[in-house]
Amino acid sequence: MDQRPNKILICVNRRFKHDEPSCAARGSFAIAEALENGVKDRNIDIEVERFVCFGQCHKGPTVKLVPGDFILGAAPDMVDGILDKLEATCGTKEDSGENAPPAHLLGS
Ligand code: FES
Repeated sequence: MDQRPNKILICVNRRFKHDEPSCAARGSFAIAEALENGVKDRNIDIEVERFVCFGQCHKGPTVKLVPGDFILGAAPDMVDGILDKLEATCGTKEDSGENAPPAHLLGS
């Protein structure tokens, strides 16, 4: 994670032809939910969004950092490590002051 990502996308596409792989068929909904909950619980300063297909269907579940790299073959046991790296790279919303009161309401 060289660049500071501002968004993490998780592919939840399901392809209904049984002989074609898809991220949803490989468990990406559970990964999306775990990442969404982890980012919220840790208050990590990054946006999480579900996405529909990056064209990496044979290598999924696919996660994409924006800006940044793909995480291919994501699995539930990788979520804590991904969250640790996101927290280290992006910080928390307290760090960025996103949850701070508006400046015009501070002081007199
Ligand atoms: S189905 Fe996830 S990358 Fe295509």
